[in-house]
Amino acid sequence: MNIVVVANFDSMSAEAAKIVYGQIMRKPNSVLGLATGSTPLGVYKLLVEYHNRGMDFSRVTTFNLDEYVGLGPDHPQSYRRYMHEHLFSKVNINPERTFIPNGLAEDLEAECRRYDELIRQAGGIDLQILGIGTNGHIGFNEPGTEFGSTTHVVDLAESTIRDNARFFESIDQVPTRAISMGIKSIMQAKEIILMASGGSKADAIYAAVHGPVTTAVPASVLQLHPSVTLVVDQAAASKL
Ligand code: PGA
Repeated sequence: MNIVVVANFDSMSAEAAKIVYGQIMRKPNSVLGLATGSTPLGVYKLLVEYHNRGMDFSRVTTFNLDEYVGLGPDHPQSYRRYMHEHLFSKVNINPERTFIPNGLAEDLEAECRRYDELIRQAGGIDLQILGIGTNGHIGFNEPGTEFGSTTHVVDLAESTIRDNARFFESIDQVPTRAISMGIKSIMQAKEIILMASGGSKADAIYAAVHGPVTTAVPASVLQLHPSVTLVVDQAAASKL
């Protein structure tokens, strides 16, 4: 694992954005795996700036890690809406090449199979961006998720519901289920960037990097991936 420790959130974002930039320059039709939450916000802001200076997203395809079950594209907290607001509406990406699981699908199992098939048809993910939960989750793969998992329906951990309640009016409004790309789907990405900022992630980052590889800490599986760059700020790296 290549570990890059930087001063703060802004430098973490700049480092990660530089890697995404390099990927799209090398391969304009790259397939990117994208994450939501607070961590990648600075990366998306920089990608929009790169676009304003000429970077072309027209041939890029994206697959998001996850979506809440029950939230449609217009719901302010859906990840489809997040991606629209922070990236898709601000760059020249083809909306038909932006994939996010459909949290409103009637048959959720069929939706999971469809999503895996779409990733396969796109030729797999070239570069996957990941954040990490305080409990070590990646995507919404909570502790205990099988390493062999493909896209699946997840019951969110209580700690995740608590962590994400800040985005909703009250904790009761946080959905309790999501569709998430599985650990196997993530591990099949050719290259991965794991980002973390802030002291609340320090234990999870320590366990992911130096702990045993265990389903109790889903991010620890990344120790087995041949091409991971960890980009962390000093607070998140404080226990390394
Ligand atoms: P955050 O979430 O970026 O909002 O901290 C990360 C995660 O839960 O994977």
